[in-house]
This record gives sequence, C-alpha cells and structure tokens, in this order.
Amino acid sequence: MADSKSGYELGEVVIAEDAIEKRVAELGSEITTDYRDSAPLLVGVLKGAMIFMSDLIRELDFPLEIDMMAISSYGSSTSTSGVVRILKDLDTDLTGRHVLIVEDIVDSGLTLSYLTRNLLSRNPASLEVCALIVKDGKSRHIDMIKYIGFHIPPSFVVGYGLDIGERFRNLRQIYNYSGVTEH
Ligand code: IMP
Repeated sequence: MADSKSGYELGEVVIAEDAIEKRVAELGSEITTDYRDSAPLLVGVLKGAMIFMSDLIRELDFPLEIDMMAISSYGSSTSTSGVVRILKDLDTDLTGRHVLIVEDIVDSGLTLSYLTRNLLSRNPASLEVCALIVKDGKSRHIDMIKYIGFHIPPSFVVGYGLDIGERFRNLRQIYNYSGVTEH
C-alpha cells in the first residue's frame, strides 16, 4: 500500500484497527481490575506510546494520574543499542506510588530494561509494564512485562504511534515497513 502523505511504500497490515481497538479495551478491563483501588501513575514513553496511552486511559475506569517521559535510544534507524538518554524526565515523584509504564513496542528489551532500572531506583510502591507489542524471538526482558497487547514476528512495523524517521505515527493500523531490512 502506498501512504499518500509521504509516497513511501508500506507492507501489509500486521494489526488491523478493529483488533487494536478490541485488545486495548481488554487490556483496559484487566488493568481496571488490578489497579482500581491504588490510584496508579501511568508513565507513557514518548513519542511512540502516545496514541496507545491516550486510547488505553479512556478504557480505565478509576482515579489515576498520567505522566510522560521522553527518551532517545542510540542505535541505527531500526534497532537500539540499549544506551538510553532521558530527553524529558517525569514531573512526578514516584516514591510510594504504584507505577505502570506504558510502552509502544519491545524489540530487544534493552530500552525497557534501562527504564525499569531507572524508575525502580526512585522507590515506587510497585512497578509494572504494559506494552502494546512484543516482538517474538528477540526480546530478552519479556518477563518484566505484565500486560502485552500483541506478539508479532520480528519485523519492523509502523503506524498507531510507531514511526520510522518520524513518519507514519498517524496511521490507524500497524503495517510492516518493507523499506528497511532487519538486522
Ligand atoms: P528495544 O530497546 O530494542 O526493545 O527497542 C524499543 C524501542 O525501539 C521502542 O520503544 C521503539 O521506540 C523502537 N522500536 C523497536 N522496534 C520498532 C518497530 O518495529 N517500529 C517502530 N519503532 C520500533
């Protein structure tokens, strides 16, 4: 499919809009069951998790707070090195808070591993992770993810917040991006 906004060629749909909507609602009811009495802080990881986070919190039926963190991972355009720089830190003190990290996609798991270590050092009462997508076969830190939306094969995907070079975040479905080769 050609993306008319950019002229780039996209591959096939990996996760369709209705599947995303259904799964986000399911995650929302699971999280509601687990957190309804703990007034958690949801930490969204910019920019990729922005759209997932905004859909997810509207499925949560209890008092909560949100905060956002912006990070950049060093590496190539399609893989990370695990060396992470915080571009925007949280405004909220995590001490004694029940914290749920909301991530877009976990590939090697290196970014998530850095993030959880960093946030754990701030003494939260609990720390869990919700990831929309986990790539099968490559993720080394999958045991730290309590809520997983989808498992996909290890190819590069875009849409629904996910980008390549800042493009395609606005697409409603998740597509394979065939313009790059995985390595
Ligand atoms: P990891 O550290 O290898 O797990 O990579 C995680 C981060 O890399 C994610 O938070 C995304 O920002 C980015 N990323 C990994 N795979 C993809 C993908 O298929 N599409 C878009 N971004 C990705």
